[in-house]
Amino acid sequence: MQWWETAVVYQVYIRSFADGDGDGIGDLTGLRARLSYLAALGIDAVWINPWYPSPMADAGYDVADYREIEPAYGTLAQAREFIDKAHGAGIKVLLDIVPNHTSDQHRWFQPALRDEPGARERYLFRPGRGANGELPPNDWQSIFGGPAWTRTADGTWYLHLFAPGQPDLNWDHPEVRAEFEQVLAFWFDLGVDGFRIDVAHGLVKAAGLPDRGGVGNPHPAFDQDGVHQIYRSWRAVADRYEPQRIFIAEAWVPSNERLARYLRPDELHTAFQFDFLRAPWRASNLRAVIDEAISSAASVGAPPTWVLSNHDVPRTVTRYARSQPDGMVESEWERARWAEEEADHGLGRRRARACALLQLSLPGTAYVYQGEELGLEEIENLPDEVRQDPTWVQSGFTDVGRDGCRIPLPWSDLQPSYGFSPPDAAPTWLPQPAHWGGHSVAVQEQDRDSVLNLYRSALALRPRLWVGAGEVQWLASGDGVLGFARGAAQCWVNTGDTGVPLPRNSAVVLASGPGVGTVLPPDTAVWLRPASS
Ligand code: BGC
Repeated sequence: MQWWETAVVYQVYIRSFADGDGDGIGDLTGLRARLSYLAALGIDAVWINPWYPSPMADAGYDVADYREIEPAYGTLAQAREFIDKAHGAGIKVLLDIVPNHTSDQHRWFQPALRDEPGARERYLFRPGRGANGELPPNDWQSIFGGPAWTRTADGTWYLHLFAPGQPDLNWDHPEVRAEFEQVLAFWFDLGVDGFRIDVAHGLVKAAGLPDRGGVGNPHPAFDQDGVHQIYRSWRAVADRYEPQRIFIAEAWVPSNERLARYLRPDELHTAFQFDFLRAPWRASNLRAVIDEAISSAASVGAPPTWVLSNHDVPRTVTRYARSQPDGMVESEWERARWAEEEADHGLGRRRARACALLQLSLPGTAYVYQGEELGLEEIENLPDEVRQDPTWVQSGFTDVGRDGCRIPLPWSDLQPSYGFSPPDAAPTWLPQPAHWGGHSVAVQEQDRDSVLNLYRSALALRPRLWVGAGEVQWLASGDGVLGFARGAAQCWVNTGDTGVPLPRNSAVVLASGPGVGTVLPPDTAVWLRPASS
């Protein structure tokens, strides 16, 4: 087995991880100082969200220079040092590459705006429709809301599937292809172990940029067959390196069959499987998602991946803190329904703890988003004036967006930044709530039963119990309960509302909550092994 087939990957949202220089924004000095925390947690790799220079129209997913470090985060020398130190601590380093679009401050886009010869061909500029070209060239909407087109001073329009500051590249242009292959090599040469590919299903658009028609129709901007050729050439770049370099696709495609196409042997190594985080807290849905993810990954020889949260979705504790929807959650994340129902974070946290044990016992790769190991909840009541996510503005102030899962981490219970920044620093870039110190690393380290200590125990046990333990074998269980064996170990999860008996002749190795004896209480998971071993 290769490391990435069974790894636990910790997602570092660098802006909110740790601030070393006191400007209220996370940075490389902070990250470097917390490397020992990551090593003690027991993870195998970090995936760092974009750390490149950026005007921050979309928190760094608008990249102005793919070969440099954002000055607020540090320098290239510090990045190099971090990569080396992480390797020294046994941690692999994965970066985020953003190939669908650049920043509007990228060296290619400003000449394109000025219509310098050939410059517009690297992007998707088109004349408008209507008598005077006053209508956008097609009906595509931005993912963040509003039209996906912005009109320039000379009346031409350019495409941006996300914010206006993120113009889409033209991947039919040979220079675009060559540039990204060189960017990959630049970071591989520095020792980076791989890339998470942002919007991997974008890049190639249907010829002629046709209208989409209804919102239910397949989107002509996504999952076009031509995109696979790009990944074949990227794979060839990665394969020039030793030790192995890898790719992880972020591809929100309509089916696991379509997702599997990105994982063919000459393409990408692995892809996020988002059904796990879209499933409600209900045994039947979770079981179906697990079976489906395992079989579709197996069909192309890739490991399944398990994602419970990331910087784009509401935190797990909050998703589980209310009554659960009947089926899979769609991309609007049920926020409309949530407004009517009080969140019970205690309940959500019990379920999140249980789901963490489920996640970490499954075959394949598990992703842990920073703060998940602290049981942080979504901050749903940020004042409107501090919101940074472009979704808020572009949706016409109807969708609050993703800031609530991006709040700077609490490291200690000391006010005002809870150890995120050094003393006397500038305010944090998003405000932390008053109770944040209670969730901090320092407080949780002192509490045997904390979420942090649950993660530490689970990650310490995982190699022995689950890595390479074989396939999931479902065990007979009642409604609301999941039970499976992998090798000698078993994982049981109770999503129902009454306790259920546990198998006899087994010993509890780890439980997600209190009260586990012969009975598994509601919203609790347990790892078992045969009593004699
Ligand atoms: C990233 C988002 C980002 C978008 C545009 C997504 O897949 O995860 O955070 O806003 O791509 O780059």
